[in-house]
This record gives sequence, structure tokens and C-alpha cells, in this order.
Amino acid sequence: MNDLGGHALYLSKHDLQLGRGETIADTARVLSRYVDVIAYRAFHSADMQALARHASVPVINALDDREHPCQVVADLLTLKERWSAGFRNRTLAYIGDGNNVFNSLVQGAAIVGLNVVAAIPEKYRPPDAIVESANRLAAASGSSIQFETDPKRAAVGADALYTDVWVSMGDEAQREKREQDFRGYRIDAELLRLAKPDVWVLHDLPAHRGLEISDEVMDGPRAAIWDQAENRLHAQKAILEALLPAHPRDPRA
Ligand code: NVA
Repeated sequence: MNDLGGHALYLSKHDLQLGRGETIADTARVLSRYVDVIAYRAFHSADMQALARHASVPVINALDDREHPCQVVADLLTLKERWSAGFRNRTLAYIGDGNNVFNSLVQGAAIVGLNVVAAIPEKYRPPDAIVESANRLAAASGSSIQFETDPKRAAVGADALYTDVWVSMGDEAQREKREQDFRGYRIDAELLRLAKPDVWVLHDLPAHRGLEISDEVMDGPRAAIWDQAENRLHAQKAILEALLPAHPRDPRA
């Protein structure tokens, strides 16, 4: 926001009246009178929906427990920079948890026409509504979505490999169980060898080295992870620019 010439307020839960019992709907109404756009990091997706429903300015989902769309704009930008011919006939293999990042990734990929093969253990698959939405988008763009349980089968011939943490927000109590269930859902040198030689590896960070991704892949030549991290900045500026009103409010009005 600063780079675009605007001004940003960072409001933690201690700065808002939410902590004193104000509803999300009322917070949305008040903030909408002060600002041109709201970027909200919520714990629960229901809170995100409530804020968006009651705000009269655009609300950007800056992460919740169900989706992480801003991340995916940066991810797709990172791949677009590398694939001059576009996404058509390219396949991204996702290895790991069917979590918030995956939920947005599978829908974002379907919008741009990038095929997705996801190796996710059965019980960690995304909700039906996400899969249905992704399938509808993929049908419109002519891309495909496939679910697998075997990371090796998913990785064969992939143009991009993507993974995220095994324990996301809200899953902390299941850490031990998850670390067992996801053993084997790791991007390491062995998995990389199954993909195309010019594969790009993505991770939305923070990474748990040695769990979902090995050091050698993260620090290796096929990792696009640092450009991906930088692209959060550029992608989010693009999102702001798209949503901000053409004429900023006049503070004297
Ligand atoms: N899946 C991760 C994303 C962090 C940016 C989490 O929810 O913790």
C-alpha cells in the first residue's frame, strides 16, 4: 500500500473493539467508513465471510483456515514468469495436505487452465464444495484435476511441484498424528527426479525443512521459492490496484 502511494493501518485484535465484544459485522461497518479496502487475516473462514458480507468496501482474504487466495496469485505469477507459452498443457503436482493453500491453489490453477494432480491422503482431501468449484472452473478453462494418494505417481512428468506444511492453523493439536500420516508426502531429491528435468518447485513458506520438503530441494537450482516469496509483494500490489477506487475519498468531504 505504501509503494502504491497509499497509507496502511495495521490493526491487531488488540487495536479493534472485537476483543471487547463488538461483532464482526459492526467492525466491518465502522472500518468501511474509514478505509478504502480491508485486508483481513482471520482464523475462521466464517469470520472472513461475515466481514466481507457487512463491509461496504472490498475485503481481501489475506488468509483464513479455508483459503489463501493472495498466495495463489503470487504462485501463478511465479510460474507465468517462467513459462512464456502460458499454462496450457502444464501440470502442477501438489504433495501433502488438502489445506487452505491447496483449496485456493486448485481453484486458481483451474481458472488459468493449469492441470493439477494432487497427492493427498484420503482423509485430508478438501471439502466437496471446493472440489466442485475447482471442477467447474477447470471445465470452463479446459484443464484437469486429479486426486491421488501416491506422491510418486503424482510427481511423474510434472512441470511444477508444490507443497505446504503438514500442520496448518487450527491443526496444532493433531501435530503428532499428522506428522505420521504425511510421512512420505515430502518433496525430496528422489521425488524431484520423477518430475520433468525443468520442473519448478514451489512452497508458500514458512517451510519445515526435513518434513514436507528437504534442504537439498529448497536450496537447490529447481526451487522458485524465493521468487515466489517476493511475488507476494507484487501480486498483492496488483490486487490492491484492482480493488481500490479510481478516485480516493476526499478527506474533506
Ligand atoms: N497452510 C498454512 C499456510 C500459512 C501461510 C497455515 O494455515 O498455517
